[in-house]
Amino acid sequence: MDLWLKGKKALVTGSSRGIGYAIAVELLKEGCTVAINGRSATALKKAVAEIREDLHLSDTKAIVPIVGDVSKAATARTVVERAASALGGLDLLVTNTSGPPSGAFEEITDEAWESAINSLLMAHVRLIRHALPYLRKSPTPSVLTITSYSVKQPIPNLVLSNSVRAATAALTKTLALELGHERIRFNSILPGWTATGRVRELMEARAKANGTTISEEMEKQSREIPLGRLAQPSEIAKAAVFLLSPVASYITGVLLNVDGGIYRGLC
Ligand SMILES: NC(=O)c1ccc[n+]([C@@H]2O[C@H](COP(=O)([O-])OP(=O)(O)OC[C@H]3O[C@@H](n4cnc5c(N)ncnc54)[C@H](OP(=O)(O)O)[C@@H]3O)[C@@H](O)[C@H]2O)c1
Repeated sequence: MDLWLKGKKALVTGSSRGIGYAIAVELLKEGCTVAINGRSATALKKAVAEIREDLHLSDTKAIVPIVGDVSKAATARTVVERAASALGGLDLLVTNTSGPPSGAFEEITDEAWESAINSLLMAHVRLIRHALPYLRKSPTPSVLTITSYSVKQPIPNLVLSNSVRAATAALTKTLALELGHERIRFNSILPGWTATGRVRELMEARAKANGTTISEEMEKQSREIPLGRLAQPSEIAKAAVFLLSPVASYITGVLLNVDGGIYRGLC
């Protein structure tokens, strides 16, 4: 199926590894030019080299690395501006960062709440705000926030993620309402358990708390998922790329679970 993405200009934040990386790869495969981002210059450089090799990318301008911490207000602006300047505009924006630390309510300090709000909510707010002038010039503008299935079904011991991401989902839905008349689409992907470094960290924390091993914790988690396994990042990315694409032209305000069926609710 042609997703009509060839030549589209995309910024994917938080994309030196994991789900963001997989989305950048799928967009490149569809013929987009992509700005990728992360806080570590070394990780970003490695990601660019890996992607160029894996995809046999001869066009060196197809992928643009932009280092910067998008949880910081000034950096969120410069990341968007540098991406738009390097790509010659923006058609697609994917807002993504890492998850916050795990922990129960009484273990979480005000500093941790503030950091989670900056990373999981304000990064999305600021990136979208600064991208809007560029998106308004695009014939097919589309924004995708990466949140979590915790938006619909809180995950034990993840109070920061459960609480702050709900605001980001509400932001996504509100922007779909406010800016639909400008033809800008806003959707969110709510990933379930996905085999990335972030999950390994969470499983390590669980193994430590329960006196088990990481693989035992992974198996326990897999048993709770109707499809019986974790997702591969590319499985999240394929859904993301569809929602971003002009083929999904009448889809906006959707909070899409891509979670192997772990979310038990009806809607
Ligand atoms: N994996 C799952 O099972 C799962 C499930 C539900 C929801 N999610 C959510 O989906 C998102 C992506 O998950 P993931 O597993 O792919 O995470 P990950 O493996 O930790 O990757 C996060 C990526 O974002 C970059 N990053 C993190 N904070 C950043 C910041 N402030 N500014 C710029 N770049 C930043 C990281 O690079 P640097 O560290 O170098 O900055 C890395 O490239 C997270 O919000 C996560 O909580 C994941």
